[in-house]
Amino acid sequence: MRLLVTGAAGFIGSTYVRLVKDEHEVVVLDKLTYAGRRENLPDGVELVVGAIEDRELVLQLTEGVDAIVNFAAESHVDRSIADQNAFARTHVIGTSVLLDAVRQRGVGRYLQVSTDEVYGSIEEGSFTETSPLDPSSPYSATKAGGDLLVSAYAHTHGVEAVICRGSNNYGPRQYPEKLIPLCVLNALHGDTLPVYGDGRQVRNWLYVEDFCRGINVVLERGRPGEAYNVGGPDECENIEVVQRIIELTGGDESLIEYVEDRPGHDRRYSLASDKIRAELGWEAQVGFDDGVARTVDWYRDNEPWWEPIRSGEYREYYERQYGRSLL
Ligand code: NAD
Ligand code: DAU
Repeated sequence: MRLLVTGAAGFIGSTYVRLVKDEHEVVVLDKLTYAGRRENLPDGVELVVGAIEDRELVLQLTEGVDAIVNFAAESHVDRSIADQNAFARTHVIGTSVLLDAVRQRGVGRYLQVSTDEVYGSIEEGSFTETSPLDPSSPYSATKAGGDLLVSAYAHTHGVEAVICRGSNNYGPRQYPEKLIPLCVLNALHGDTLPVYGDGRQVRNWLYVEDFCRGINVVLERGRPGEAYNVGGPDECENIEVVQRIIELTGGDESLIEYVEDRPGHDRRYSLASDKIRAELGWEAQVGFDDGVARTVDWYRDNEPWWEPIRSGEYREYYERQYGRSLL
């Protein structure tokens, strides 16, 4: 297949491209925001720099394309609390432009990469694909807007669109604004690890390659118009994650710093992934202990990847967000 993969200069999309590049012909469309980097992509993959909401460009790039996989997003909840406008543009308007191109160009398949956050927070049990969408941050509200548009478009126009909702991903090349890489890099620098509120929030951790394998089977064999949850094998409290990173980096617990909570912070995410297991035979292969050890090793060994980030935009972001400088 010829694939247009949008947002693939970021963390998950670049992992996906690595997974499928030998099997499919891949063209990447990415705006290269602060989170997108050409270096994330493997050699030989064509990158077009531009936005998914650019209708003319998208129409040009979708000629002769068999499928679109849409990773393009503003992905950080804290940034959406500071200003949600780019989130609305990319997640809603961008998705709308891509869907129009699917229809106009007769693209055979469309996959929307989405998130467990569209369901909101759950105290007990797990969300299934029929749970109502009840997002609580500007990030997740705009992602839910994109999802609803995809479902309505498939229903109304009969295009072959599917949705994949992943839980919290982690692994190599994740921008350090997210909990795991932030704490790994701070710990490696002997800096404090900021824990929001009481640190007892629960996330369902999914190694990035497992998510990408899930996306691949849904693209190939998912039923049109359907959503598929792709949840990680382990649920942990944030404080347990931070403690594990401290053990792996040889630090001590005095590095933990409890800081002001995130406004509207979702307490717990949990996904039931029975549907993708039963229909498509997907199973997560990497448990949290193994995945987090691999992730720490990757950051330890790849300073040339993170050094330009830590000395660039991220440094200013960190000061705004945490009211102090990075070490
Ligand atoms: P990321 O921030 O690392 O990468 C996002 C990429 O999208 C960047 O390369 C950026 O330049 C690009 N982009 C942003 N706006 C664009 C636009 N308007 N047009 C074209 N490109 C644009 O994000 P990620 O963590 O790799 O997330 C990828 C997708 O997976 C997102 O849709 C996100 O909602 C979803 N998701 C993420 C997680 C997670 O834990 N990170 C979990 C589930 C789902
Ligand atoms: O659940 C899937 C989602 O996971 C994706 O859709 C998002 O794109 C992705 O960013 C992620 O969202 P979270 O908000 O859960 O991830 P983050 O890494 O920002 O935070 C994980 C948890 O750690 C959350 O409870 C907030 C907390 N946290 C985060 C940071 C950055 C802290 O305690 N301290 C921090 O400094």
